[in-house]
Amino acid sequence: MPGPFALDGRVALVSGSSRGLGLAMARGLGRAGAHVVLNGRDPATLGARQRELAAEGLSASIAAFDVTDGPAAIAAVAAVARHHGRLDILINNAGIPMRAPLTEYDDERWRAVIDANLTACFRLAREAAKPMVARRWGRIVNIASIMALVARPTVHGYVAAKGGLVALTRSLAVELAPHGVTCNAIAPGYFVTELTQPLHDQPDFDAMVRARTPMGRWGAAEELAGPAVFLASDAASYVTGHTLTVDGGTVAAF
Ligand SMILES: NC(=O)c1ccc[n+]([C@@H]2O[C@H](COP(=O)([O-])OP(=O)(O)OC[C@H]3O[C@@H](n4cnc5c(N)ncnc54)[C@H](OP(=O)(O)O)[C@@H]3O)[C@@H](O)[C@H]2O)c1
Repeated sequence: MPGPFALDGRVALVSGSSRGLGLAMARGLGRAGAHVVLNGRDPATLGARQRELAAEGLSASIAAFDVTDGPAAIAAVAAVARHHGRLDILINNAGIPMRAPLTEYDDERWRAVIDANLTACFRLAREAAKPMVARRWGRIVNIASIMALVARPTVHGYVAAKGGLVALTRSLAVELAPHGVTCNAIAPGYFVTELTQPLHDQPDFDAMVRARTPMGRWGAAEELAGPAVFLASDAASYVTGHTLTVDGGTVAAF
């Protein structure tokens, strides 16, 4: 892919890319020319995804680790940077929701959601920033949610974590800007993935999403690839600290 959107020669780590939005973004980065490092907790699944991407002519490898396991995440980022001699792009995508009414939302749930959606992203960004700063070029893209900007009942930890991730995006951006590293967030609306399939399958919920979304439909995972490639590329060289909403217009509507 010639021009400012090209990622030829770049190495990208995409957390949580064994399926769903992470896999779609990894495929998009690969099609733009990057070598993508797939991540998830199951090496066998990652191996299968790697072979699929290779069959499409894309360059991919795998790094199986749990993003909430601090020592494993730190070692994995260092190993990618050592093996490739660089790490140019980090997509902080792995995340989990947990639903419970407020009075039943116990500390264990809260901690698990904050760990996976916020603390793990901070840690991966901190570690990825080391090789990026050393080479004076880097792109960190945090996958937040429209739940960082608006809220629904029962997802308290998720709303707080994603809101924190948008705030963290700004603090990383201002510190890393002088080093040639940008940090932006994407706030997806409702996309059909394994995560949201149970919601999509509820007629009332599906109708609510369609009614609240000016485009009248859920997003398809492939529709996150373009925004991710843009923020990871030289086309976004003067964009940092920004949160890009990709939601069919949901939060624009009253
Ligand atoms: N789908 C939506 O509508 C939507 C909307 C807004 C925001 N988002 C955000 O987008 C991101 C991806 O969502 P999705 O819908 O694609 O979810 P998904 O289908 O459940 O996929 C999640 C991915 O993350 C991996 N993962 C989960 N926990 C992990 C951990 N602790 N360590 C490493 N990998 C882990 C999973 O692989 P393994 O299970 O094999 O480890 C899988 O590859 C999440 O941060 C989510 O909050 C999604």
